Amino acid sequence: MRTFVYTSHPSRVVFGSGTADRLADEVKRLGGSRVLLLSSPPLAEASARVREALAGLVAAEFDGAAMHTPVEVTERALSVLREAGADCLVAVGGGSTTGLSKALALRTGMPQVIVPTTYAGSEVTPVLGETRDGRKITQSSPAILPETVLYDVDFTLSLPPAMSVTSGVNALAHAVEALYSADADPVTDGLALDAISRIARALPRLAADPADRETRADLLHAAWLAGTCLATVGMGLHHKLCHTLGGSFDLPHAETHTVVLPHAMAYNASAVPDVMRRIADALGVADAPSGVHDLVASLGGPTSLRDLGMPESGLARAAELATATPYPNPRELTTEGIAELLTGAWHGRRPEGPSSTQAMLARLTEQVVASFAQAPDPRVRTLLSDLVRHLHTFVATNDVTDGEWQYAIDFLTRAGEISGPTRQEFVLLSDTLGVSSAVDLLTNSRTPTTTPSAVLGPFYVEGPPEAAHGSDISAGLPGTPLWVDVRVTDTDDKPVKNAVVDVWQSNKDGFYDVQLPDLDGPVLRARLRTDADGRITFWSILPSPYPIPDDGPVGQMLAAVGRHPNRAPHLHFMLDAPGHRRLITQLFVAGGAHLDGDTVFGVKNELVVDFTPQSGPTPDGRRVDGEWRRLDYTFRIAPLAD
Ligand code: BEZ
Ligand code: FE
Repeated sequence: MRTFVYTSHPSRVVFGSGTADRLADEVKRLGGSRVLLLSSPPLAEASARVREALAGLVAAEFDGAAMHTPVEVTERALSVLREAGADCLVAVGGGSTTGLSKALALRTGMPQVIVPTTYAGSEVTPVLGETRDGRKITQSSPAILPETVLYDVDFTLSLPPAMSVTSGVNALAHAVEALYSADADPVTDGLALDAISRIARALPRLAADPADRETRADLLHAAWLAGTCLATVGMGLHHKLCHTLGGSFDLPHAETHTVVLPHAMAYNASAVPDVMRRIADALGVADAPSGVHDLVASLGGPTSLRDLGMPESGLARAAELATATPYPNPRELTTEGIAELLTGAWHGRRPEGPSSTQAMLARLTEQVVASFAQAPDPRVRTLLSDLVRHLHTFVATNDVTDGEWQYAIDFLTRAGEISGPTRQEFVLLSDTLGVSSAVDLLTNSRTPTTTPSAVLGPFYVEGPPEAAHGSDISAGLPGTPLWVDVRVTDTDDKPVKNAVVDVWQSNKDGFYDVQLPDLDGPVLRARLRTDADGRITFWSILPSPYPIPDDGPVGQMLAAVGRHPNRAPHLHFMLDAPGHRRLITQLFVAGGAHLDGDTVFGVKNELVVDFTPQSGPTPDGRRVDGEWRRLDYTFRIAPLAD
């Protein structure tokens, strides 16, 4: 059981495209009527849109927000605020404008509506970092948390792709570090993983079409989630390093995050392998740190500290600064280790490191897949490549041990050994795992207007004995007599004559003839041919429920998971007619046992039919004492061209 503490930071979030239209209402909702509109000069267009949306509510504007929230700037904005008698703050922009708004709210208690234009995420945190005399002071308070965040995707459409990438990776960093935070909790984990997969999906699409609203919406949604993570749990090595590099070497914020993240992840990977695997899954890559590096590189984002202007001579000092005061981080921090990390980041190396098992595994998978490249049949190539990818992922995800794999091979060996002309364990395996029914469902979906098919099962025997219409295929075996009267039509409801119809079923005790060596078979199986009306008739016995053979490995598997081996009662049909698709199916006895729990998942509603109880005279005048049943059914089969 996991013990955790979770603190939420309540804010109202309005999300969508064109949501700026709701700004005036949101301000009024907070009791505001005289807005101080905050922005910065590059956002003139966005602030014009906000001004228009606020209609007459803007009392004053301040467009001087600056990086790192200098207190001098805040004080200037404060006098504008006081002079105008403002009662509500609206900030449009990235981290700097949000910072200014928070600084003003902290000093005045005024409510805030933030309209983010980047993926910084600070709009949902109760944290403020201000600079006074070149020193950064960070504080956290509920008074700092904005009341309302209005995300309007339209404001992000023009954020240049390069800035979108670095801002997006900045958000990614919040989500990544939340997952291995010392105070991680399950709620935040979920938000973080959602954010990571949205970012991984959106960034490559953004490169192709920066103005795509859905892509931008994914990124903005991710930024909100990642910001929520940042607000809720403490961050580790990555954020500390970026803070140090930004503060002491004046490196640009989002770019520094982008370069450092894969290296900080690689440093921590050996301490939190499970977290890295979850991140890799969310990213859709084999190895998380190198996956982030590859993502950034493929988008043309910055990968080296050197390119950001970091002097190589400063690396050792940066390592010392970053390790001077202890803070929670999954892997122990050593000055040498961090210096090595920074050296890799300075050169822009692709991180390998502790998670190289995953990287080797990824390479192995690709080698095997590449070995199929020359297969002349493209379908063979596709199926084998995909099978290998899934198998390798299965092995890796479940960390399959040598002993477990040996057991699996032994299981399959035993399945082979027990199989023979009358025992097909692999069919049973496919059926009980639902694979036969999955293939069958896909087949049915291709011909929706015909009778659904159902699994073949292991008891069909090629070339059953020919039987005449009206004959009894049960050869007098005990059971409730059953009169079968079925027709075969095409999809235009025209009768199909000369169709070959093979039928087979178990006896009253649930056994097929091939399972009973003492029986003088074949029995309860036959081949009939439809007449000019597409019709066949025959006598048999009412099918019973029965267990599939469970004295082999498949039976052991069922027992191991507490499953019963029973099939619902049914009659098998295989229909072949010239110019038509073969139909293999079963008709199930309505009201029979196990219809809801058929062990091979073979029952389909359309195939559950009445085997209607009867008494008295029979259709062909045969004398039956007591109850008999009748089955009337019409099969629709598809022409081959369909
Ligand atoms: C059958 O219906 O004959 C059957 C189908 C799947 C597995 C075992 C038996
Ligand atoms: Fe069967």
